[in-house]
Amino acid sequence: MAKVWVEKLFDDPELYILRVDDNRIGYFEATWDIPEGITYNAYLMKLKDAVVLFDLSKREYTEDFMEALRKLVDPEEVTHVVIHHTEPDHTGALPAFLEANGYRAQLIGTSFAKRFLEGFYGERVVENFYTIKDGEEIRIGDRTFRFVTVPWLHWPDTMITYAVEDKLIFSCDAGGGYGIPETIDDGDEEVVKKYLPHVTKYIVTVIGHYHKYIVQNIKKLKNLGIVEEAKAILPGHGLIWRRNPRRIFEFYEAVGAGSATKGKVLVIYDSMYGFVEKRMRIVLEELEKQGFTPVVYRFTDRDAPAVSDILGEVPDSEALVIGASTYEADIHPRVRYTLYEILDKANYEKPVLVVGAFGWGGVAGKKIETLISRSKFDLVEVVESRGMPRPEDEEKLREGVKKLVRWLS
Ligand code: FEO
Repeated sequence: MAKVWVEKLFDDPELYILRVDDNRIGYFEATWDIPEGITYNAYLMKLKDAVVLFDLSKREYTEDFMEALRKLVDPEEVTHVVIHHTEPDHTGALPAFLEANGYRAQLIGTSFAKRFLEGFYGERVVENFYTIKDGEEIRIGDRTFRFVTVPWLHWPDTMITYAVEDKLIFSCDAGGGYGIPETIDDGDEEVVKKYLPHVTKYIVTVIGHYHKYIVQNIKKLKNLGIVEEAKAILPGHGLIWRRNPRRIFEFYEAVGAGSATKGKVLVIYDSMYGFVEKRMRIVLEELEKQGFTPVVYRFTDRDAPAVSDILGEVPDSEALVIGASTYEADIHPRVRYTLYEILDKANYEKPVLVVGAFGWGGVAGKKIETLISRSKFDLVEVVESRGMPRPEDEEKLREGVKKLVRWLS
């Protein structure tokens, strides 16, 4: 059985969180290594003459979720289910819930959500579906709910709910993160500090492809005035934010904009037999000499760091250094894949220094140069040479780092 938290968050209206802790998962979306796990958060609000469920859980945890729900309410009494986003980590339990509910509840979501639910679970689940318009307000029980679409955060179906009188934002993926925090909310700063790097990793891997929409959609919510006045932000993953609700959206904006931490340089390289490694030691020494703090990920015959962790380091880096061997007239496969994902998921205006080593022909440098020229990143220089670095190569490497430093100043 999974750990499921069932806790009352507010008395008026009665609002509960149902948080399923998924510590069995290895790879989110069958791709991203998350040894830190993830939570799926749903919320239940009991109102006068209505019971509203906001999102559900992943199919694998249906039994755990339904058991937790039954602690709060008979599923037949749920009158409305708000579907903020249809990705099955939030809707997998929907068919079983509707069976237990006798298909009484009205589903509320966007037109995309209706279409996607039908595709995932069949026509029956959308028989009683209300399609909202952006900004529409609906009275349920004795409360008003405003539904605001936030497309591409991170699917076209996505919306948030604003509980108007109670000033609560139900934000689903937006505001979420990986990890299984020891607490429900942001009340403990130590928990928050440990959690925030998992948020960055989540943003880049899950929403990163659309990161310009993070800034755009949060601006939209801010312009509506609801972020400023929110009493709590209640995401579909990770911590809820009620001590300092604005903090998580500010954090999202900073990641979306790629706001850098002064002095942080992300260094990624492969080294099959130590030739790139020797070059990178020179680069690292020079970076430190120039007052920078390199954060290093290396692929060797002993190390294969998770690409998801590397992606999480990009947004707040000032610059990147990529070191690559030429491998079968191409970029070393692990660096190639890492770079491909960086350019797709974490494509920011940041300078990149490229370092290469080859046996009989240098190709990696040129290929990386071409890839970077098609991205938002700026190429500072490619320093590439054969075999063991000679004194003249060392000079070029140190000069490359100095050029990178000048770029940043
Ligand atoms: Fe948490 Fe995009 O689903």
